Amino acid sequence: MNSSEGFIWINGEFVASKEAKVHVLTHSLHYGSAVFEGERSYNGKVFKMQEHHERLLKSAEILDLTPKYTVREFNDAVLATLAKNNLTNAYIRPLIWRGSENLEVFSRNSSVNAMIAVWNRPFHFDKEKGISLCWADWARPDPRTAPTAAKASGLYMIGVICKNKARDKGFDDAVLKDYRGYMAESTGSNIFFVIQDEVHTPAPHAFLNGITRQTIIEIAKQKGYKVYVRNMAPEELENVDEVFITGTAAEVVPVGRIENQTFKLGEITKDLREAYLKLVNQ
Ligand SMILES: Cc1ncc(COP(=O)(O)O)c(C=O)c1O
Repeated sequence: MNSSEGFIWINGEFVASKEAKVHVLTHSLHYGSAVFEGERSYNGKVFKMQEHHERLLKSAEILDLTPKYTVREFNDAVLATLAKNNLTNAYIRPLIWRGSENLEVFSRNSSVNAMIAVWNRPFHFDKEKGISLCWADWARPDPRTAPTAAKASGLYMIGVICKNKARDKGFDDAVLKDYRGYMAESTGSNIFFVIQDEVHTPAPHAFLNGITRQTIIEIAKQKGYKVYVRNMAPEELENVDEVFITGTAAEVVPVGRIENQTFKLGEITKDLREAYLKLVNQ
């Protein structure tokens, strides 16, 4: 996004993007007290908008943030922001954050704010060739240690470190294990494995249960594939035929390699990817 262009919705008003500023004492900047969403509109229709805003409010509740807006108001505000910016195919980023009124850990004396930005986001993964992943140095934390079910800004510090390191090593992205050593997800997407024509994906115990992930599970079941949601050990990769990642931004992207192990860009990934693209573009 070019941050000097367009309009951002902030607390019910449109503000020119270049004027959309926060104070350096913003609580969320110091203490990570913010939650957000990543949505996508296809031909003017936001895919699973209701689900995204329900998750946004759930994430807010987990972080003890009480937003001024309902799911329905976020729905309306997103559509208005798309219209204001004249965009029909866009990436949409709502954020709820604590303001700068009072910088102490106790946060209820600080305001709860909301913003929505939209942009025509270029998507970086090459969706045809298959991306490369390395193992991340960091693990997804125990849900008793961090609010892993929330799409919380603070949790993304783990992904940021891992993604930068992966890029430094020449990989597209990193795959994280969880604190128990089971395979979890990549830095911004969930992960699936095809083993002997069956679809397997890690149980969302310590990571975000992605809306795309849930959609792919549904599509795969409807298509008659057997789907297993379970704990998956890294050693199981030996038996894996295909790997793909899923997420709102990524959609469905085949993985060609994890470290030195290569995977075919297979038919089941292609089948599920085509079905997903058909669904979002309906
Ligand atoms: C860490 C992480 N996991 C998984 C996902 C996939 O979630 P969704 O399919 O809801 O976009 C995302 C993207 O939002 C993410 O950032």
